[in-house]
Amino acid sequence: MQFKSFIGIATLCTTLFLAACNGDSNSNSTQPQEQAKLQPIVIQGALPVESEKMAAQLENATVEMIGEWKFWKGTYKGYPVVISKTRMGMSNSAAATALAIQHYKPIAIINQGTAGGHDPDLHVFDIVLGKYTTNIGAFKTPNKPLGGGSNALEWNEAFDVLPDDESDPEPIAIRKFEGDKELLLAAYKAKPNYSKGQVVEGTIGSADTWNNELDRIKQFHTVYGTSVEEMEAASVAQIAHQFNVPFLGIRVLSNNITNNGAYDPATGEACQEYALDVAEQYMKAKAAAK
Ligand code: 5AD
Repeated sequence: MQFKSFIGIATLCTTLFLAACNGDSNSNSTQPQEQAKLQPIVIQGALPVESEKMAAQLENATVEMIGEWKFWKGTYKGYPVVISKTRMGMSNSAAATALAIQHYKPIAIINQGTAGGHDPDLHVFDIVLGKYTTNIGAFKTPNKPLGGGSNALEWNEAFDVLPDDESDPEPIAIRKFEGDKELLLAAYKAKPNYSKGQVVEGTIGSADTWNNELDRIKQFHTVYGTSVEEMEAASVAQIAHQFNVPFLGIRVLSNNITNNGAYDPATGEACQEYALDVAEQYMKAKAAAK
């Protein structure tokens, strides 16, 4: 495993200079000693447009590469934070999560970023808090003969890749990972600060697929209860669950073909702002409880 690390000296100097000028306007009632005791919170984004804005807001930031996975470690408003660029998809995000847990021993993980709407009542810039996160790419298909074709609308059996009973080679169930209650509470505290759309609870569906078939999207919305789809959150939820690390998925709609919501790249930055706010609220509560 390759491991490289360097200190962002320029960032450090700027931060020290700013802190000296503004008399640490970021401070709150929590003592710095208490904040320092907290383990970092990890906030993930798949793409640069889903991670770099948060990374740029860290103080005393260092960049660490583990293999091809990039992590920025620093503080935000005095709280320890690691920003992780997972790259796209279920495998990349699972690997980034396992690496982050082993390397940083995080207090919690937020997976955030853009998503496509499955719910016609949700619009571009609305944010879905993952009360549930579920894999929408794992199935046992019906039997069909050669020449029998394939119809994904007939794939009625969800394959559970994390069954309790490991002796069952064909476990059929829709597995939903529940969002952590304290992270959800923090998300509600940050909600009044988000003015670009609604913030609602829902179900995030993940797979290495970008669905553009409206009948299929409708089926996911009906059968799985999905509000949005994307390509990482359920994979992260699964790994976090197996390590017993609190997890929440937070997804902004960047597109919604169920109501002609055109893709807007500015949503990626909006979600990062909100996720940082959620992280701050969570760490504040954790520091106060110490
Ligand atoms: N379907 C699937 N993934 C989407 N993403 C944004 N919108 C969608 C969509 N409609 C996210 C994924 C992935 C990248 C393509 O953007 O999570 O990282």
